[in-house]
Amino acid sequence: MNSTEVLSFTDGLGIDGETVLLDRRSFPTATDAGQRVHTTAANSRSVLVSGGSRGIGAAVASHLAVDGHRVATLSRSGNADPSSGLSLACDVTDAESVELAVKQAAADNGPVEVLIANAGITDDKLVLRMGEESFTRVLDTNLTGAYRLVKAVAGPMLRNRWGRIVFISSVVAMSGSAGQANYAASKSGLIGLARSLAREFGPRGVTCNVIAPGFIDTDMTAVLREERRDDVLSSIPLNRMGSPADIAATVGFLTSDAGGYVTGAVIPVDGGLGMGH
Ligand SMILES: NC(=O)c1ccc[n+]([C@@H]2O[C@H](COP(=O)([O-])OP(=O)(O)OC[C@H]3O[C@@H](n4cnc5c(N)ncnc54)[C@H](OP(=O)(O)O)[C@@H]3O)[C@@H](O)[C@H]2O)c1
Repeated sequence: MNSTEVLSFTDGLGIDGETVLLDRRSFPTATDAGQRVHTTAANSRSVLVSGGSRGIGAAVASHLAVDGHRVATLSRSGNADPSSGLSLACDVTDAESVELAVKQAAADNGPVEVLIANAGITDDKLVLRMGEESFTRVLDTNLTGAYRLVKAVAGPMLRNRWGRIVFISSVVAMSGSAGQANYAASKSGLIGLARSLAREFGPRGVTCNVIAPGFIDTDMTAVLREERRDDVLSSIPLNRMGSPADIAATVGFLTSDAGGYVTGAVIPVDGGLGMGH
């Protein structure tokens, strides 16, 4: 492939005849020392990571930036590590905010080729005490937020006949979890969303997969009571919490060219907690 190519596609998905600029020149990327270097990686991709300011999303952004990709992260605060690329303030519950952020990422890094829909929240309560506001707020962030991101980035992926979408779900999508009906419902919803997209987008070279993390050491789990943490830990065959880097490594494979024949999959990264579901 030349360094820059102009492609034109006609297809049956209502995106006929648009002209797409594919830029394959060298781009600046990050090192973990925070210094910027230039890589000439032929497969450097434009990557968007939601919820990239901390925890799993920050580890994913760093992993992909170190691999030579052009990364943009989204979070409400916009406070991601600058060594991982462009950091944008964006609330995934707001479609307009998502559209603007995706435009900004594309302007800096080129059309988004890899989407990691990772932003998520919890609001744990037993269901009889869970108001509708709590239920819909968690769904709006974790599930509808992922849908909004897909809507904003999918067009160029389909036109370019290459794309990678990864949803960060959870072990509780399959197991359920007392006190997390809203969260578990949102995380199960991501599986149906991903598998539908895998069918819709597969013929255009876009894969869509789900990672189901187990118990990962981040701000989200730091708030759990000690007894609850001990209880979960005792159920993990590998006998430790996962690290954000464990999830990032799996994202790295799924989004690589080597992961190109995997789609519609739900991959547990949980130390055996769900035993493959
Ligand atoms: N930690 C675990 O054990 C675990 C297990 C299974 C699945 N997961 C899933 O993994 C993902 C990341 O979890 P984590 O543990 O890394 O959580 P975390 O440390 O709480 O980080 C959550 C990230 O999402 C962002 N975010 C939250 N609401 C947002 C919104 N409306 N718009 C944009 N960004 C938003 C946060 O940034 P701002 O606050 O600045 O917006 C932050 O960057 C979540 O989807 C979570 O459900 C986590």
